[in-house]
Amino acid sequence: MTAVSDGGAPALRGDEIEISGVIEWTMEMLDAADLRPAPLPGVEMTFTLARVPSPEVNRAMYAAVGARVCWTDRFGWSHADWQAWVDRTELSTWIAMAEGTIAGFFEIEAQPGGDTEIHLVGLTHAFVGRGYGGYLVEQCTRRAWQRGTLWARDAGPATRVWLRTSSLDHPNAMANYHRRGFTVAEQNVVDKPVPDPRLAPWPLPHDPRTLAGDRAGDAAAPGGAAARRPKEELIT
Ligand SMILES: CC(C)(COP(=O)(O)OP(=O)(O)OC[C@H]1O[C@@H](n2cnc3c(N)ncnc32)[C@H](O)[C@@H]1OP(=O)(O)O)[C@@H](O)C(=O)NCCC(=O)NCCS
Repeated sequence: MTAVSDGGAPALRGDEIEISGVIEWTMEMLDAADLRPAPLPGVEMTFTLARVPSPEVNRAMYAAVGARVCWTDRFGWSHADWQAWVDRTELSTWIAMAEGTIAGFFEIEAQPGGDTEIHLVGLTHAFVGRGYGGYLVEQCTRRAWQRGTLWARDAGPATRVWLRTSSLDHPNAMANYHRRGFTVAEQNVVDKPVPDPRLAPWPLPHDPRTLAGDRAGDAAAPGGAAARRPKEELIT
């Protein structure tokens, strides 16, 4: 998932290094019956479809989950790129929660002809290696097969679920996909330039220092956000 661009050329910065011999795999599952369940985690893990397309949320999850395993292909995306990415009925984002904490997420896309791509799947760092990863990939794959009913309701049924991963992803990832029933469809070895993921810029559409007036306007709007806030705070 780290080594292959999701679309367009990544904007590389001066602090990139080239990593040689990166293995990229395309993995696929051709029948929902091939999905092998993982053991349940020790505590409940829930999965919620993000119904409001939110570039900030996807960008935050991308960085939170992916920075340690060099997910960098999207670091060159502008806010408008992220907005266009999430603002599609064929893309769905799911947030995983466990122990009262955001434990991971996945992005799946209903593509033409029955292909469903798992673009991203992963745990936040505190949940890695604690028995959640197999279940996360199982639930992600289950939902990928449920396109056309559970999400992307206008899309037809899935005929293939696929993803791209690489030797830059977490060392547990490949074994996890194999255990869930994925097989390798394609393998390539490439030299990959990777920018430093530690200090990625955070794209916003505007300079927030210039928005003080707009925020005051929001607060004053009748029935607007400010008018609802006390009630919402009571509910939460
Ligand atoms: C890939 C990823 C989801 C795998 O999760 P993980 O926690 O590292 O590893 P796994 O869940 O596969 O754990 C390995 C095995 O040990 C078991 N295990 C590990 N820790 C355990 C624990 N504390 N208790 C019980 N079982 C445990 C798991 O059940 C699993 O076996 P199973 O698949 O038969 O269930 C996770 O490493 C991750 O999100 N990494 C960052 C992002 C990433 O690389 N994503 C993949 C992109 S392609």
